[in-house]
Amino acid sequence: MMKCQKSLFDIPDGITYLNAAYMGPITKEAAEIGKQAVQNKLNPWSISINDFFDIPDKIYNLSSALIDAQACDMAIVPSVSYGIAIAANNIKVAKGQKIIVLADQFPSNIYRWQELAQEKDAFVETVSWPDNGDWTAAILAAIDEKTALVATPNAHWTNGTKIDLVAVGKRSRAVGASLVLDLTQTLGVMPFSVKDVDPDYMVTGCYKWLLGPYSFGFMYVAPRNQNGKPIEESWIGRKGADNFARLVDYKDEYAAGARRFDMGEKSNFINAPIAASALKLINDLGVEHISNYIKSLTNYIAERAIALGLNVADDKQRVPNLIGINFKDGVPAHIAPALVAKDIFVSIRGDSIRVAPHIYNDKADIDRLFDVLEKNLINPKD
Ligand SMILES: Cc1ncc(COP(=O)(O)O)c(C=O)c1O
Repeated sequence: MMKCQKSLFDIPDGITYLNAAYMGPITKEAAEIGKQAVQNKLNPWSISINDFFDIPDKIYNLSSALIDAQACDMAIVPSVSYGIAIAANNIKVAKGQKIIVLADQFPSNIYRWQELAQEKDAFVETVSWPDNGDWTAAILAAIDEKTALVATPNAHWTNGTKIDLVAVGKRSRAVGASLVLDLTQTLGVMPFSVKDVDPDYMVTGCYKWLLGPYSFGFMYVAPRNQNGKPIEESWIGRKGADNFARLVDYKDEYAAGARRFDMGEKSNFINAPIAASALKLINDLGVEHISNYIKSLTNYIAERAIALGLNVADDKQRVPNLIGINFKDGVPAHIAPALVAKDIFVSIRGDSIRVAPHIYNDKADIDRLFDVLEKNLINPKD
């Protein structure tokens, strides 16, 4: 089992940070890289033409390695909503067809689909919360010949309940539906392979579990969709863009692969090197090892929650990294302030306390969380 990696981070001993699902920290090394990047901008003569291409190339290589894809299948995007917009602009939806989403799905993977449904006289079908916790069965039951596309994560962002994407991918292909994935809440901490799932598009932000900067994410575009239309027509997405002296020899042809889908100014000289450092760390540690380490913590959370008489999703129905501690009648109002008073950081989502540990947490963090919960649930007046 991997060791706790707290020494890589700047998290003081008094802080119990269990909220990577909200915002992940960058490492101390990534911060140093960021400082150097700011210094380079102070001295712009140190930014070379090669940097415009070499830094994004690192991102393509490291991000594709995480998902079993080729570097040329990757695009750099600023946000999940941007990636979803690319998918929506390219997927064919006919009148009367349906777009499948989950109840209470994250809004960046909802609004564009609502708009598309309106544009095409199609409709959005929302899969309800399954009573038995089995999202996969509920999604499979919703997919039929009328389905144009399924837009889903592989973990519900509010409580970490799991969706089996291999099964959803298979069923989508069987009815000719497209599959669009937002993996922001699991990528890097739960194994995922485009070879197993075969999505049409997959997008993720980097600022949570991938321990990267804000406003920086990446996208996979399946080779079969790489002739599509990008959102922007950037100079750097065209063939021959590295010849700075001849950029006004306008080119009709895009650069090969998924390059056309990159956001403008993709060679973000400050964010991209920080993201590259983060992605290298995740690749070096190995997603499988990270996943097993974090799973040992969420299993411990489940054990402690159950001992307190609280509910969590069944082991088989939750992802390794995210767990919702559910209160039947809602999270009592005094719990959140009691946690903050002890510098314990989690999120309240719906009727659950969402706990999101990462490689810098250990069992002692979980014990601190439960000390407060026990004190405030069993003896609230002590
Ligand atoms: C599942 C999921 N997707 C996406 C995002 C962020 O979306 P965007 O990059 O469009 O701001 C979040 C943020 O909480 C999220 O939980």
